[in-house]
Amino acid sequence: MDTLIIQGGKTLSGTIPISGAKNAALPALAATILAPGRHILHNVPDLRDTRTMLLLLESFGITWQRRDDGALVIDATEIDNIEASYDLVKTMRASVLVLGPLLARMKRARVSLPGGCAIGARPIDFHMKALAMLGVDLTLEHGYVEGKVSGRLSGNTVYFDIPSVTATENILMAATLAKGTTVIKNAAREPEIGNLIDMLIGMGATIEGRDSDQLIVKGTEELSPGEISIIPDRIETGTYLLATGSAGGAITVTDCRPDHLPALLAKLRGAGLEIETGEDFIRIARTKILKSVDIKTSPYPGFPTDLQAQTMALMCISPGLSVIAETIFENRFMHVAELRRMGADIRIDGHSAIVMGGTPLFGAPVMATDLRASASLVVAALAAEGETVISRVYHLDRGYDNLVGKLSNVGAKIRRISEKRE
Ligand code: EPZ
Repeated sequence: MDTLIIQGGKTLSGTIPISGAKNAALPALAATILAPGRHILHNVPDLRDTRTMLLLLESFGITWQRRDDGALVIDATEIDNIEASYDLVKTMRASVLVLGPLLARMKRARVSLPGGCAIGARPIDFHMKALAMLGVDLTLEHGYVEGKVSGRLSGNTVYFDIPSVTATENILMAATLAKGTTVIKNAAREPEIGNLIDMLIGMGATIEGRDSDQLIVKGTEELSPGEISIIPDRIETGTYLLATGSAGGAITVTDCRPDHLPALLAKLRGAGLEIETGEDFIRIARTKILKSVDIKTSPYPGFPTDLQAQTMALMCISPGLSVIAETIFENRFMHVAELRRMGADIRIDGHSAIVMGGTPLFGAPVMATDLRASASLVVAALAAEGETVISRVYHLDRGYDNLVGKLSNVGAKIRRISEKRE
């Protein structure tokens, strides 16, 4: 397995361009199942997870190619298989996003249950309850969800106890081809859902309530192929802003959407970092001593849980006490033990981590446990004295396009060692 080697203490300067958002690209790729024909997706990042989703689409009989201009052309004319196999689904929980579209178009689906995940149990009960409300006959057997629809899906009002991102996306996609109107109450409001709504409307869907917690979908008999440009990745953006806070210096992040990061930018300013924003760039500079801030993760537009681990790394070097409350996932502190190995002073108290920041961090061999935890270790390593070796970096490859190149280009001393396969 590959490792990253980072020499801490180098300040950053220069420009980092942001790639398309993983969590917008995955539902958009699944949405191509809804309509036969050639869909065009611009700015899809080349990541392990997007490659997995493309393999899944191929397993259904869908074909694709990347155009010279980088756009993905996806031909969903033929679908001759409705089963999402365990060996693909176990590597990416977001595979559940094919369930709604397959049921809507093919009236049948057999999708492996995703199985466990490092950051929490992450059940899919909201997805299943809501699909049943739309008329799906669901059974669970041998680790697979089997769904059948007699006739067409029928619109209904569904309510989510928690504004689940992928459950909202799954039901939204299914409802576009249902008979009648579907109302989704307590819907998630992440920008990636807005991007999916833009794609679905471009395919002929009728959807009201974009960016709100109530979506109203008037179903239609069929949709046409879509064309969409994937929005910039707000979590990648936040990660590089936090990396600069940690390493020191000043960088400009380009091709990004500052308006998608209201909570993080407020916290970075609260930590004493200088932030200037334009329509598609953010300039950040560390010009004075950092200050500790408290954070509490919550659904958008609250503080993103996907930036919690990386922010904790910054708080480790910010003098003072920082209370970090994780309200979304029950086990998203796997990075704490690794940060402690680097000298961090962190105590866990239930769903909160208490960080006593300001003591120096030291380079150490550490292990990535999940996607954002591995990003947290990179952020910490940039500030640490000496060399940090991060193992299991395949976690990073799921969500960061060319992280080593982007950080090297702004002065970080970071390299990747590929282990020879025997
Ligand atoms: C999406 O996951 C993201 N993934 C996650 O990003 C992100 O952390 C999460 O939303 C929260 O923002 C994608 O968009 C592909 P949820 P999702 O359903 O949809 C519970 C990353 O790093 N829940 O909003 O799976 C769940 O356990 C990944 O890119 C149920 O109980 O998250 C969690 O506690 C990690 N039953 C809470 O709701 C359900 O049926 C919110 O989860 C569904 C969810």
